[in-house]
Amino acid sequence: MTKVLVATEKPFAALAVEGIRNIVQEAGFEFALLENYTDVSALLNAVKDADALIVRSDIVSKEVVDAAPLLKIVVRAGAGYDNLDLAACSAKGVVAMNTPGQNANAVAELAFGLMLFHLRKGFSGKSGTELRGKTLGIHAYGNVGKFVALIAKGFGMEVFGYDPFIPAEKMTEAGVIPLSSAEELYGKCQYVSLHIPATADTKRSINLELLKRMPKGATLVNTARKEVICEESLLKMLEERKDFSYLSDIEPDCKEQLLASYPGRCVFTAKKMGAQTEEANINAGLAAARQIAAFIKNGDKTFQVNP
Ligand code: 3PG
Repeated sequence: MTKVLVATEKPFAALAVEGIRNIVQEAGFEFALLENYTDVSALLNAVKDADALIVRSDIVSKEVVDAAPLLKIVVRAGAGYDNLDLAACSAKGVVAMNTPGQNANAVAELAFGLMLFHLRKGFSGKSGTELRGKTLGIHAYGNVGKFVALIAKGFGMEVFGYDPFIPAEKMTEAGVIPLSSAEELYGKCQYVSLHIPATADTKRSINLELLKRMPKGATLVNTARKEVICEESLLKMLEERKDFSYLSDIEPDCKEQLLASYPGRCVFTAKKMGAQTEEANINAGLAAARQIAAFIKNGDKTFQVNP
């Protein structure tokens, strides 16, 4: 019997697990669950008889793929698939997929949660500032960026966007002012919300040259990936610009240093939690299960991300 393993170091909400289990069992497959594992050996052991795998940010390395001789498909229940070794998957004929857009609203809402927490001084009761009338730059206008724009409009912000892969009309239709370069975006916006994926081209691309362009009182919000930030530049920017703040859902390697040196100007969530809502878990988890059923039964490869 086809075995579908859900392996999540950071578990889905219980309702999402129940929904995935139902889809898997209704398709006539066996359901297996590995949650909260702390050592890769648990994952290596669990995948050895799995035909299909659902993960979140769990690392699906070559070692994991090699440990799963029956594996036919792995679905990253979420957007970014930088945690999947695509070459290793392709080498073993394993189809790799993601579930684009399914958790996007949750991530967008958290970006505003971080902004509000910060500008209201950590909900301490001290006098803060407001989002209304401020400029917001959306760096990459994909699924998350679109929700960020929608919410920002509700707050009465002036919204700009930069995305070389999206036609400018898509932004103007949504009341977002398209800009033609990242330099322009950072130069114009008091708030910049990052939504670029971590790729060979984007890693460490948010550097001092770009950050220094930001106007007085600038805040960078990162709910994307830590790898896109040049951490040396971030440290330098915080040191040189006393008006600059960094809010992030992703722990940089220099987190402790930032918190100690720049209290009040750096805010981090306890654990990457942008997509950690019941709704996002249900949307992404169930989509992953349905994609697996469609692939195993009908060979449907929609959302495949590896060549
Ligand atoms: C994504 O790429 O979908 C988000 O970063 C969410 O990641 P998570 O599933 O680990 O919360």
